[in-house]
Amino acid sequence: MTSGATGDHERRNRRFWDTDADDYQAAHGEQLTRGATWGVWGIPESDVGVLGDTRALDVLELGCGGAQWSIALARDGARCIGLDQSRGQLRHARHAQRDAGVTFPLVCASGEAVPLTDESFDIVFCDHGVFSFCDPDRAVSEAARLLRPGGLLAFNHSTLLHTLCWDAKTEKVRKKLHRPYFGAREFDWGDGTVDFHLTYGDWIRCFSRYGLAVDDLVELEPPSTATTTYGSYVDPKWAARWPAEEIWKARKR
Ligand SMILES: C[S@@+](CC[C@H](N)C(=O)[O-])C[C@H]1O[C@@H](n2cnc3c(N)ncnc32)[C@H](O)[C@@H]1O
Repeated sequence: MTSGATGDHERRNRRFWDTDADDYQAAHGEQLTRGATWGVWGIPESDVGVLGDTRALDVLELGCGGAQWSIALARDGARCIGLDQSRGQLRHARHAQRDAGVTFPLVCASGEAVPLTDESFDIVFCDHGVFSFCDPDRAVSEAARLLRPGGLLAFNHSTLLHTLCWDAKTEKVRKKLHRPYFGAREFDWGDGTVDFHLTYGDWIRCFSRYGLAVDDLVELEPPSTATTTYGSYVDPKWAARWPAEEIWKARKR
C-alpha cells in the first residue's frame, strides 16, 4: 500500500472493475439484491432512515455497480438514474433491471465529470461508490452542482479508522494503527484499486467549500446476527467495537 497522488485513479479503477465485475457480482449479487441495504452488513435503510421517503424524488446513484440499490428505490417509486464508469458493472446492472422488471437510465461516466444537468436531483447517494474511489473535491463539487437547493448528499464508505488499522501484510483489520491519520488522502492498495480517505476535518471543509452542510454522520454498527459476503473486509468482532463504515449526510444550502 502506498499513499500519495498517482493522478490516474479513474483509469486504474475502471480497469479493475471491468475485470472484476463478473467475480464481484457472483460473490455479492445475492446479498445486494436483498433491497435497500447499506454496506457490507446489509443494514436495512428502514433501520437507519438515511434517505427517508424517496417516492417521486429524483435520485442519482454514483458508482451504482449492478444498480441493486437503485432498483430497490425505483420499485418504491423513486425516479432513479444509476451512474458507473465500468461497462462491466453496467452490463450486470442491465441484467438486474431486466430480472427485476424495472428500467431507468444507466449512465457510463466518471463521478468526477457527470454528463447530467445542474440542480436536477433531490438526492445524490452511493454505497461504497464514487465517494470512495474519486478525488473528494471533484466528486463533492459534482454532487453539489447536481443537487437542488436543500437536496441530500448521502454516501457510505470505509471509515478512516478501518483504513488506518488495515494491515497490508496479513490483509486484515487489526487493533493497531498502521499508518498516520494526518495527510490521509489517496491510497494505492496494490491490487489495482485506488481509493480516497480524508480526515474528519478535511471532509467537513470539503463539503463546506461546495456549499454543503453536514446533517449527520451515521456510524454503522452491525447487529450480532448480521452476516456478510464481504468476509475479508472486517472481522465482525472488530466491527462491533469500532466503526468500519460510516454514512455522511450533507445538504445543499
Ligand atoms: C465496491 S463497488 C460498489 C458498487 C455498488 N454500490 C455496490 O454496493 O455493489 C464500487 C463501484 O464504484 C465504481 N467506480 C469507481 N470509480 C468510479 C468513478 N470514477 N466513476 C464512477 N464509478 C466509479 C466501480 O466501477 C464500482 O462499480
